[in-house]
Amino acid sequence: MTHTVPLTEKAARAPKAELHIHIEGSLEPELIFKLAQRNNMKLAYDSIESLRDAYAFTDLQSFLDIYYAGASVLLTEADFYDMTMAYCERALADNVVHAEIFFDPQTHTERGVAIETVVAGIDRALADTEKRGLTSKLILCFLRHLSEADALATFDAALPLFERYPRLIGVGLDSSERGHPPSKFERVFERARAIGLKLVAHAGEEGPPSYIYEALDLLKVDRVDHGVRSIEDAALVTRLADTRVALTVCPLSNIKLCVFDDMTRHTLKDLLDHGVAVTVNSDDPAYFGGYVNDNYTATIDALKLDDAEVHTILRNSFEASFVTPQERDAMIAKLDAYWNGTAA
Ligand code: HPA
Ligand code: ZN
Repeated sequence: MTHTVPLTEKAARAPKAELHIHIEGSLEPELIFKLAQRNNMKLAYDSIESLRDAYAFTDLQSFLDIYYAGASVLLTEADFYDMTMAYCERALADNVVHAEIFFDPQTHTERGVAIETVVAGIDRALADTEKRGLTSKLILCFLRHLSEADALATFDAALPLFERYPRLIGVGLDSSERGHPPSKFERVFERARAIGLKLVAHAGEEGPPSYIYEALDLLKVDRVDHGVRSIEDAALVTRLADTRVALTVCPLSNIKLCVFDDMTRHTLKDLLDHGVAVTVNSDDPAYFGGYVNDNYTATIDALKLDDAEVHTILRNSFEASFVTPQERDAMIAKLDAYWNGTAA
């Protein structure tokens, strides 16, 4: 007799990689309050509930304003450690076996926190979690609303860290997309490429398809973060499918930030049908109403994905990751063994 489980549960229990998670976006209101108290800081909100009530966003910028305010409680190495450890616990609970994690150094260096403090705390938590079955990489993101000169200075300050922390393997680009095209950061990405770093950029979340072209052609990214607006340009969709440049899609984020009206309107399935290597990720789970499995569940239910489609998305998460070919093959073999041994 075959024991069957619902597809959402089969996906929840599957080993998976998460490739688009901002560690500062995993900071839950409870931890924001705890860290504020520990650091003798006063918040603009008088309770956890009133902070959570403010999480009603109309677009990317309305989220970013609150996200940067939340991150302002992070001061010490222990703060970055505790934030990262809390994310790792949630990731392990969702059967994430590999995570590639973004952090925004400029959000902290602007407030006088040393970049070493940021990376040391995050990396120590990731090292401690490795023994428990979660491997990880770190990706340093430049804030695109700040200047090119600021990004270049941040890159220079981070240079010794790329040597010291083997987990730190790439750079990315995030924050306010509209009006800040990838072309603004061509030179800093060129420098990162010259020292062999992996490259990613948020593009086509709120910005037009032309920003995705710029990310591919000028920044020469290995993956595109979000990229959902690629669906507006048929030639771009074909190019993404042919080159297998993956999109790290974040469905709940897209709904919370009003990129789509509701989940049934999400273009993830259209992109998948066109052969684009889409993955499912949480983006800023503390702010968008769910961790990675919540994103799988919402997507499977709203878009009525079938068993083979969910398997493809899970495989894509490993194929698009920055692990070695041997590590990737081992992860995919485990996924396939699990998937084929479990009837949905
Ligand atoms: N988009 C751009 N910048 C961000 C995001 C996002 O979804 N999350 C955190 N920084
Ligand atoms: Zn993001």
